[in-house]
Amino acid sequence: MLPPLTHEHDLYSSQSLDLTTQYGQELASSCLDGLPPFEESSSYAGTSSSDNRPTVKYVQPPNPGWKYGDTIYSTDRGRKWMEGATDDNWVHHHTDKEDPKKIYTLLMSGVQPRPIAFVSSISADGNENLAPYSFFQVLCHSPPIMMISGITSLGVKDTIANIQATKDFTVNIISLPWIEQANAASVDAPTHISEWDVTGLTKEPSTHVQAARVKESAFSMECTLWDKYDVIQPDTGATGSTVIFGLIKCIHTRKDVLNTRGLVDPAKFQAMSRMGDISYGLVTEAFRLPRPSWTADGEAMERTIDKGVVNQPQDFWYSSAL
Ligand SMILES: Cc1cc2nc3c(=O)[nH]c(=O)nc-3n(C[C@H](O)[C@H](O)[C@H](O)COP(=O)(O)O)c2cc1C
Repeated sequence: MLPPLTHEHDLYSSQSLDLTTQYGQELASSCLDGLPPFEESSSYAGTSSSDNRPTVKYVQPPNPGWKYGDTIYSTDRGRKWMEGATDDNWVHHHTDKEDPKKIYTLLMSGVQPRPIAFVSSISADGNENLAPYSFFQVLCHSPPIMMISGITSLGVKDTIANIQATKDFTVNIISLPWIEQANAASVDAPTHISEWDVTGLTKEPSTHVQAARVKESAFSMECTLWDKYDVIQPDTGATGSTVIFGLIKCIHTRKDVLNTRGLVDPAKFQAMSRMGDISYGLVTEAFRLPRPSWTADGEAMERTIDKGVVNQPQDFWYSSAL
């Protein structure tokens, strides 16, 4: 049973969907199905330091003593995790048979956290536009290319149309202190409405492209249209999504979010990510794991290969043999 759309829910769910259509209504409802109620008394506090900023706590990795070949059954946490991997405990979704609404909500919740591109663009007749896109990723660094994907099944999104028309845009990473403003820009406003005016965010002129960047963002990328790819539904021939590839021409970083190496410090940056449904996430805990190198670790890896990894079944670890 789907929960009724409250005013609050209408506001949130209209972010990505045309609620005037039955499909949009159903899709919105399916994103919200089973969500816990908002706890109004527990607004976001974060882990405050003296300047009221959340900090990222760096902790030990979950199994610091891990050695090549140690399987998941070698720790309590791993064994507990694998208790859920029994043969009868899986749901298998065949995408060609499943309701697309279900696939949408599954992908939104299963592929998380996703980075969010807060995209500023301008239409052919000069209307300025802002909107968040979490089908977003950096693809390569030389040349520096990123992508966003706009769902077109309910009509072409303004951002996607604008970028194709005027060939440039900016991607701004959202930080916690202005998440409400950014979220407001996902409203399904008519094309002639500029989301800048409802968000209270500040336009900062770009140096390489026409579209402004967002001054509140501590990390912005000025991009030009590199390519686009229409994703066609195999059964109907309709365009399901349009993927925009952008060439990153200029990157603006705010000095006070950088560490001593000149790189973005996650604790200062407080970057927002998209979780499933209408949830946002903030990383507050992290750990470092060195990347293995064949020069340093090849011998140990070869020994493990020679020995053969024995993935002991769960029963073994619980048996009295140990
Ligand atoms: C955090 C967040 C991420 C979103 N990601 C996407 C996305 O990747 N693709 C998409 O088509 N819509 C996405 N949406 C919905 C769009 O932001 C929404 O449809 C917006 O109205 C589009 O604006 P535009 O037509 O001005 O481009 C997202 C919404 C939110 C709140």
